[in-house]
Amino acid sequence: MIINKLINRIKRQKIYKKKIRIMKQNAPDCYFADISSFDPLSEYEGGNKISSGVVFDGRLGYGSYIGQNSTLPKTCIGRFCSLSQNIQLVAGRHPSSKFVSTHPAFFSTLQQSGFSYVNDQKFEEYKYVDDEKKYLLKIGNDVWIGANVLLLEGITIGDGAIVGAGSVVTKDVSPYSIVAGSPARVIRYRFTEEEIAFLIEYQWWNKDKEWIKTHADSFQDISSFIKAEG
Ligand SMILES: CC(C)(COP(=O)(O)OP(=O)(O)OC[C@H]1O[C@@H](n2cnc3c(N)ncnc32)[C@H](O)[C@@H]1OP(=O)(O)O)[C@@H](O)C(=O)NCCC(=O)NCCS
Repeated sequence: MIINKLINRIKRQKIYKKKIRIMKQNAPDCYFADISSFDPLSEYEGGNKISSGVVFDGRLGYGSYIGQNSTLPKTCIGRFCSLSQNIQLVAGRHPSSKFVSTHPAFFSTLQQSGFSYVNDQKFEEYKYVDDEKKYLLKIGNDVWIGANVLLLEGITIGDGAIVGAGSVVTKDVSPYSIVAGSPARVIRYRFTEEEIAFLIEYQWWNKDKEWIKTHADSFQDISSFIKAEG
C-alpha cells in the first residue's frame, strides 16, 4: 500500500517535470500560474498568461490571456484576447426531442453511468466548430469576455466582440458586437458598420509585433486610426 503510493507519487513527479520541460520548449515567453491542469502540448503563440485553476487545451494566439478558474477544453483562441475569470465552456449534449429518454445509456457508448444499452453511437454528443472535430469553441482576435460567462459548445465568437459579465452565450457572436444576458443578445456594436468593415479587412492583429508596438498610441481613437491607416 505505502509502496504503491510512493510509486504513484514518483510517477506524478516525473509527468510534472516532463510537462515543465515541454512547456519551456513550446512557450518560452508565457506565464503559467499552475501547469498541472492544462495540456502542455497545446499551442501557445507567445506573450500568454494563464492564471491559476485554468483548464485549457487547444490554441492560444499571441498576447491572449485566461483568467482564474476558467475551463476551456478544445478551444481555439485568437490574438490579443482578454478572457476574465470563471469562463466555462459547456460541452456535451443529450437529445432533447424524438428520443424517449435523455439518459446516455440509450444513445452513447461511453457508459457515463457505468453501462450502456447501445453498441454504437446513436446521437452526436459533442458539437464541434470545425470538420476535423478538433475544436469545440472558436474565439476570434481582440475579443473581451467578462467574468462568470457560460459559452455553449459549437459556437464562434467573432473578432473584436465583447461578452458581458454573467452571460450565457448560446449562439455565434458577430464581430465587434457587444452581447450580454441569458441568453446573450446584442446590446450594441462597438463601431459603425464602415469602421467594423475596415477593421475586419485590416486585421491589425496580424501585423508584426514591432508594427503593433510602434502604432500602439494610435489605438486610442478609431476615427484617427482609420484616417491614418485607411
Ligand atoms: C457589457 C459591458 C462591457 C458594458 O457594455 P456597454 O455597451 O457599455 O453597456 P451599458 O453599460 O451601456 O449597458 C447597456 C445595456 O446593457 C445592459 N447590460 C450591460 N452589461 C450587462 C450584463 N453583463 N448582463 C446583462 N445586461 C447587461 C445594461 O443594463 C443596459 O441595459 P438597459 O439598456 O436596459 O439600461 C459590461 O457591462 C460588462 O459586462 N463588462 C464585463 C466586466 C467584467 O466582467 N470585468 C471582469 C474582468 S475584465
